[in-house]
Amino acid sequence: MASNSKTFTFEEVAKHNHKKDCWIIVDGKVYDVTPFLDDHPGGDEALLSAAEKDATIDFEDVGHSDSAKEMMQNYYVGEVDLSTLPAKVKHSPPPPPTQGRVVRNESSGFVLKILQFLVPLLILGLAFALQYYGKQSKQAPHES
Ligand code: HEM
Repeated sequence: MASNSKTFTFEEVAKHNHKKDCWIIVDGKVYDVTPFLDDHPGGDEALLSAAEKDATIDFEDVGHSDSAKEMMQNYYVGEVDLSTLPAKVKHSPPPPPTQGRVVRNESSGFVLKILQFLVPLLILGLAFALQYYGKQSKQAPHES
């Protein structure tokens, strides 16, 4: 199969990077996944974002099943000239650690706790103040 398969440069493969024409590279092999975009259980976005790069790491990171690997043979169109691949770039880094967000969440949680404590106190204070002034204004006419 490999002997008469076509060899593409990375640039050629990278051109096929949209919904109507999407090729991906996994393990030095090129797959035209255009007809599979709508059926891919991981969604078409996963495949589209795997175009224009060596998707080997992305593909393996998902831990695709053997049946997924068998299925992908249906879309094989050739090999990629490995010398044209961009230096082993690790694509799509995992989502950044949520440290920043956690800090923000923690501080907003803290503010919320203070508010939960302060708001009832304020309402209580307001109620007392109203009662006090209410009594005073009722007593005032009697005294004079
Ligand atoms: C021709 C190539 C591909 C085929 C035939 C394929 C097939 C499949 C299949 C059958 C599944 C269901 C789970 C399984 O059986 O493993 C799946 C899930 C998935 N695939 Fe692919 N896939 C391909 C390429 C890719 C690529 C390049 C990515 C890029 C990251 C990707 C991302 C995912 C994701 C995120 C899931 C969902 C995993 C989950 O929700 O558990 N796939 N794929």
